[in-house]
Amino acid sequence: MLLIIIIMLVILWRYVKPKQLKNLDISTRSPRSKFKSLPDYYSGNLRTISYFDYQTLKKATKNFHPENQLGMGGFGPVYQGVLNDKRMIAVKKLSNKSQQGESEFLGEVRMITSIQHKNLLRLLGCCSEGPQRLLVYEFMKNRSLDNIIYGPDDRFLDWNTRFQIILGIARGLQYLHEDSHIRIVHRDIKASNVLLDEKFHPKIGDFGLARFFPEDEAYLSTTIAGTLGYTAPEYAIRGELSEKADIYSFGVLVLEIISSRKNTDLSLPSEMQYLPDYAWKLHERSRIMDLVDPKLRAGGFIEKDVLQMCNVALLCLQQRPSLRPPMSEIVSMLTCKVKLTRMPMKPTFSGRMRCFDESSSSETAYGVFSSPLTIYSPQLAKSFSS
Ligand SMILES: Nc1ncnc2c1ncn2[C@@H]1O[C@H](COP(=O)(O)OP(=O)(O)OP(=O)(O)O)[C@@H](O)[C@H]1O
Ligand SMILES: [Mg+2]
Repeated sequence: MLLIIIIMLVILWRYVKPKQLKNLDISTRSPRSKFKSLPDYYSGNLRTISYFDYQTLKKATKNFHPENQLGMGGFGPVYQGVLNDKRMIAVKKLSNKSQQGESEFLGEVRMITSIQHKNLLRLLGCCSEGPQRLLVYEFMKNRSLDNIIYGPDDRFLDWNTRFQIILGIARGLQYLHEDSHIRIVHRDIKASNVLLDEKFHPKIGDFGLARFFPEDEAYLSTTIAGTLGYTAPEYAIRGELSEKADIYSFGVLVLEIISSRKNTDLSLPSEMQYLPDYAWKLHERSRIMDLVDPKLRAGGFIEKDVLQMCNVALLCLQQRPSLRPPMSEIVSMLTCKVKLTRMPMKPTFSGRMRCFDESSSSETAYGVFSSPLTIYSPQLAKSFSS
């Protein structure tokens, strides 16, 4: 008799439950089922995110089809997808370097979801199944800023749009550094981490991602050389991480937006190759306006505004972290609530890190840090030597 009951229960489990589950639409699914053994995760901000099952994300991205791959970053590939209710999403499949347990992963997701601001990309939900860890973000129609400012894309951004983008990034960073309930240093401010919605409003992506990886793996990026061009010297060389490192990267990004070029471009004449260096040289010669994207001139801008923006960028690029203004001050300067009184001082030695041994013109790992200073991250060193 007992045996018959057990067999009936097994049949019920195998054939009835999956059907019921299939009928559940993700939009109506509560995270309760996933988190019922973890009451803590069911409270607070997790109420506002969805738990997506792997099959739903597989279907939305057409089985993670290469055609749906938006890009491949240091944390793993990103796919675009469409849910049953037609909502578009971007799915980031975290690489298995993460190796985080489920409860730790869900805790970090809860933390990131609780940080919301109009200039921060929204994390809609997550998926954790077996070794798979996926993050589901709102989809941004105009993709990332790098595609427009120096990509193959021929869309043009006029001065007002560029100004609004810079201001939005500054406000997003101000929130992360100063206003959010948890202080977050982004660590990877760069053009590909600025997403643009249909109205070209900017949202900073990838904040808090380092929390999914062990500390020495956290600062890994596929475009490490590009990322290095944004990295504050004290962070790259000594591993000193603070908000000031983001402020330095913000300064580099502002120069890129004004000039429509990458921070490092070895195809240019030598004095122009490293954007912050070049900007300092032009500033000393009182020719900083030479930096401005020539196409912007056709669209028109007020020279005083562009000059002000260049000076703010140079203040962010000060060698000494303490001389870089906090984000709230930058926002005030950009919105003219505070007059720019300080003038930027040229660094005592160049802020850029030599990615190339200039005498031989060949790429060398240790040419980058040829001084007695040591490289902070062993992973960073590995990336260069490989
Ligand atoms: N929410 C999104 N909406 C639209 N496109 C996105 C979204 N998130 C990412 N992308 C696109 O996917 C690409 C890859 O993003 P990803 O963050 O993985 O790489 P990355 O920013 O180049 O490098 P890193 O891992 O160092 O941040 C981006 O360049 C962007 O174009
Ligand atoms: Mg990114």
